[in-house]
Amino acid sequence: MKERIETIVVTGGCGFIGSNFIHMCLRERDYEIINLDALTYAGNPENLKECESDSRYTFVKGRIENADLVNSLLKDADAVVHFAAESHVDRSIEEQQPFVVTNVLGTQVLLSSALHSPRLKRFVHVSTDEVYGSLRPGEPAFKEGDHLRPNSPYSASKASSDLLCRAFFKTYGLPVVITRCSNNYGPYQFPEKLIPLMFINALSERPLPVYGDGTNVRDWIYVEDHCTGVLAALEKGAPGEIYNFGGECELSNLEVVKTILELLDKPEDLITFVKDRPGHDFRYAMDITKAKNELQWQPEWDFKKGIAATIEWYQANREWWERILSGDYRNYYQRRYGTL
Ligand code: NAD
Ligand code: TYD
Repeated sequence: MKERIETIVVTGGCGFIGSNFIHMCLRERDYEIINLDALTYAGNPENLKECESDSRYTFVKGRIENADLVNSLLKDADAVVHFAAESHVDRSIEEQQPFVVTNVLGTQVLLSSALHSPRLKRFVHVSTDEVYGSLRPGEPAFKEGDHLRPNSPYSASKASSDLLCRAFFKTYGLPVVITRCSNNYGPYQFPEKLIPLMFINALSERPLPVYGDGTNVRDWIYVEDHCTGVLAALEKGAPGEIYNFGGECELSNLEVVKTILELLDKPEDLITFVKDRPGHDFRYAMDITKAKNELQWQPEWDFKKGIAATIEWYQANREWWERILSGDYRNYYQRRYGTL
């Protein structure tokens, strides 16, 4: 990109991927970052406590659906990197409305505001492989031109936001870039997601609840690789384009859970097969040829190295997740997984 980016509004920067992205930007670039985050159950300002003393970083607590607030932040922004979302499939099955409000309405408010942002050069919309639907064994990995066939309320809301982004590019020429990534893991992931949940349960020798028969497949990517992809999309992505990111690392849920048990030296009989998730997508896999060729991006972390680093982080940051388990999340956790 020819024009210089100085100020970026990051949405959802107190969540898992957003906080890793902000750490990376402040470490490796000289951008001013304004982080707009509502601090829902999944947002944790503690994830960015080292950044608070950095003069390039500003935190604003607020919702992306608040047009006045968004207008005031976007008026001097060169770019938006949009992570904010309701992100958990199981929660979307229990209650759909927050997903539509944040993921659809919130994205529309950001896009509409971006139209009136005089300096705006890029709007990076962070999306997911789940918008493509589910693959059967042997089917080719998802490509950017594939049809969208979302199956959960979460993925339907993300697909809707992707389509709004496309419409704003086609109708108004807004310089939107969409990224779609596979399942992330790594530091700061909220412990409702598979890998941190299984780690925490295994550590205290509680049952590990595997949905169905555990043969569902995900394409795992270490969060740092996703963040380098988003940065590459911001700096090199062409307006109107979509870029897939993935770890080229397809594993069944059982393989993932067994790896965690092995690394913690815990017995496999902690694995407990529980009722399957309704509409459970069987397999995701990403074809990342386009990002490799056009963004000169590729994942650098293999699963062995990434999962070891992740487990090490959760072991070293016990207070981080213990505070989450003892807060409001305790009720949700106990309802789903029993007494702590
Ligand atoms: P997360 O749930 O950990 O974080 C979401 C953040 O958004 C939180 O800090 C939350 O407070 C904030 N937020 C939620 N609603 C908001 C609102 N209305 N206004 C302002 N802030 C709000 O999510 P994550 O796992 O970090 O995912 C980030 C993005 O990446 C999401 O858009 C998600 O769809 C996408 N994504 C995630 C994965 C994954 O494996 N986690 C994979 C591909 C894409
Ligand atoms: P999750 O981390 O919720 O990500 P997503 O549904 O967005 O892929 O789940 C990853 C996989 O792990 C998915 O196939 C569902 C499965 N899973 C379990 O088997 N048990 C659990 O307790 C959770 C949370 C997930």
